[in-house]
Amino acid sequence: MFPRDFAWGAATAAYQIEGGWQADGRGASIWDTFCHGTGRVFGDHNGDVACNSYELWEEDLKCILQLGLTHYRLSISWARLLPDGTRQRVNQKGVQYYNKVIDDLLAAHVSPMVTLYHFDLPQALQDQGGWKSPNIASLFNSYAQFCFEAFGDRVKLWITINEPYVCAKLGHEDGIHAPGLTEPGIAAYLVGHNMLRAHALAWHSYDKIFRPKQNGLVSLALNSDWLEPLDPDCAEDIAATQRDIAFTLGWFAWPVFVTGDYPEVMRTFIEANSQKHGYTGESRLPFFSKDEPAILGTADFFALNFYTSRKVTSAGARFDKLSMKSDQNVQEVLDPSWPISGVSWLAVVPDGLRKLLSYKNFGDPAIYITENGFAQVGSLQMEDVQRVEFYKQTISEVARAITENGVNVRGYFAWSLMDNFEWADGYSARFGLFHVDFSDEKLPRTIYRSGKEYAKLIKRYNS
Ligand code: GAL
Repeated sequence: MFPRDFAWGAATAAYQIEGGWQADGRGASIWDTFCHGTGRVFGDHNGDVACNSYELWEEDLKCILQLGLTHYRLSISWARLLPDGTRQRVNQKGVQYYNKVIDDLLAAHVSPMVTLYHFDLPQALQDQGGWKSPNIASLFNSYAQFCFEAFGDRVKLWITINEPYVCAKLGHEDGIHAPGLTEPGIAAYLVGHNMLRAHALAWHSYDKIFRPKQNGLVSLALNSDWLEPLDPDCAEDIAATQRDIAFTLGWFAWPVFVTGDYPEVMRTFIEANSQKHGYTGESRLPFFSKDEPAILGTADFFALNFYTSRKVTSAGARFDKLSMKSDQNVQEVLDPSWPISGVSWLAVVPDGLRKLLSYKNFGDPAIYITENGFAQVGSLQMEDVQRVEFYKQTISEVARAITENGVNVRGYFAWSLMDNFEWADGYSARFGLFHVDFSDEKLPRTIYRSGKEYAKLIKRYNS
């Protein structure tokens, strides 16, 4: 069912697991600043210590080996390598840390997939305007080149930016992620634009300078729910669904995989809403400059983060303020038959993944599922039978996508290797295949039933 060289992985991200926020000269990131304020994160939790993977990497490696993973997806903390975000000052201790992680993985026959940016901008760059500033694209490119130079002899799978949609919207429209800005209808489009420019510059650098020697692959990880019309026979619901896809996955996938520009419907609706609200500034959705390297074709595979599904209907123009919501004018609802995981947004709809994989409106690229997982909250269950079911069903939908729908799926990464700092939910939501006891200062990792089952499944398909 799965190709022989299928990647069986698990994923983590630097801020969510590393801790050591001031260790050995690491610079601060926007998540440090965000969490050190009050009332922003569940229980005012923060990632100062997290799973302490900065000191306990070898414990993580044991978990990876116990699962029998062929691949491990980790992210690099930009501010750990370059404390002020630029190459003027390199933190060698940071370079050593990631060198050891990568070398240990390879020695254990586990291939690293490395994300350069997973939500944690150096605070020093935020102070210069962060992702809203056009300069960020070349700063990111310089950081990316630094990483390709330092680690690209061994790392063959790269993700430039994780979930630009989430960074842009949650961080700059809703204010519930760092840097906590709320500038509805304006900042998120600018941030998304600069993220695409940054990603494209880094991809072109890799393509020209590093690929000839290093021979790896580079993409960006896009999150998407499976979206379908609430009433499949209602033309308005069908149009609302297409619009919803355009404003979420399409926002990034369309420029990179299809046309080099934003989906038409996005621009039309944004311009119409600007007019409606008497907004007379420049277009809120920026234009790509012909003088910069092309965006189209800057991904060597499709990296998809998938968690859940929604039914979509038109919002009937009921959002009255200028915002992404009123631009988009859709309403998403949950089907009452879908079970809900520990976190309220995550309805369990495994066949949504097969439908999304088979969607094929972004061409037919090789796909890695770079995140998929299930959260528990409340009382601890080491026998996490719901998560076991979730993984079984979801992975069998991946198998069906390959065998029945002919989709070229190259790998699957469970989110997450272990319980960790779940952004605005702090440590209240547990996504791990390993439990981490945050009340014990040694932070012991213990495998859940779901981890054991995932290990069995990998063994079955990979031997
Ligand atoms: C993704 C994110 C991960 C993880 C996951 C579960 O959006 O990339 O860092 O937190 O969601 O919510």
